Amino acid sequence: MEQLLALEMVRVTEAAAISSARFMGRGERDEADHAATESMRRTMDEIDMAGTIVIGEGERDQAPMLYIGEQVGRQSDDSPAIDIAVDPLEGTNLVAHGQAGAITVLAASEAGGLLHAPDTYLEKLCVGPVAAGHVDIAASATENVHRIAEALGRKVADITVVILERHRHEELIAEVRAAGARIKLISDGDLSAAISCAVSGTGVHAVMGTGGAPEGVITAAALRCLGGEIQARFRFRNDEERARARRMGVDDDEARVFRTEDLASGENLVFAATGVTSGDLLQGVRFFGGGARTHSLVMGYQSKQVRFVDTVQMFDRSRPPAVRL
Ligand code: FBP
Repeated sequence: MEQLLALEMVRVTEAAAISSARFMGRGERDEADHAATESMRRTMDEIDMAGTIVIGEGERDQAPMLYIGEQVGRQSDDSPAIDIAVDPLEGTNLVAHGQAGAITVLAASEAGGLLHAPDTYLEKLCVGPVAAGHVDIAASATENVHRIAEALGRKVADITVVILERHRHEELIAEVRAAGARIKLISDGDLSAAISCAVSGTGVHAVMGTGGAPEGVITAAALRCLGGEIQARFRFRNDEERARARRMGVDDDEARVFRTEDLASGENLVFAATGVTSGDLLQGVRFFGGGARTHSLVMGYQSKQVRFVDTVQMFDRSRPPAVRL
């Protein structure tokens, strides 16, 4: 079931990537997001599942589709019950400005396997499989950078940490600089960066700092499939967010450390992402006469399979593109 679902899910992220990539550099972030959301929603209904969106575009009254609680898929009597967390377009600004690293992404699980995280912030520490088990979000950034370097058998100066470029990270950036590690500041996209740190050859070794909580849950699903680790603590902006977390059944204690399995506990996890604009991990959508080529990452936790999928999508059979190696 998981393997079939994974291959179905990559069609969903591919369709969303092709639709949103049309908006690259057009300065229209909302339109790019809408195109991805609309395509994702439409393609999901072709899948034989009784899907429920547990992380999506917002509450029912805020979002016309892919809202929390929305039922998706064919929903026939014997369809399997699947919980789905989506970020139809991670990096709306990146697409609007034609910058690197935007992806379409989702995670799926048997019902109950993904934390229903409210749309607030999470402080995150993400590492790949070799450094997993060696870090501690309650320790200082300096300590963690040293532990990562030791686990990887490198000097601290050879470690690259990705941090979102935000005012709230000024102290963190100063500390990591003082520790001697290299830093890659990104304007958006800590989910994509977290996956990169678990894929050897991307040149990224850790992600630190505070970003979206929904992205944190999808990150956890990806890192479980890759053997990496995320540790996270909720960072609420106000009491309303705190109350909302409680209503959603989430512990609102900001000292509590959520680990990879707390955020994505499912045993049948599936993860799919497709590049919209080229980044460290995935190539962006390339259009040509009569078609487009996409590059995706698809993984299953049970199947222990990680696939990079290179797809040529033909738009017009009467004018087929020459498929190139
Ligand atoms: P979009 O989904 O709007 O493109 O934003 C993505 C993102 O940069 C995430 O990667 C990150 O977790 C979050 O936004 C950071 O939020 P903020 O911009 O409020 O700091």
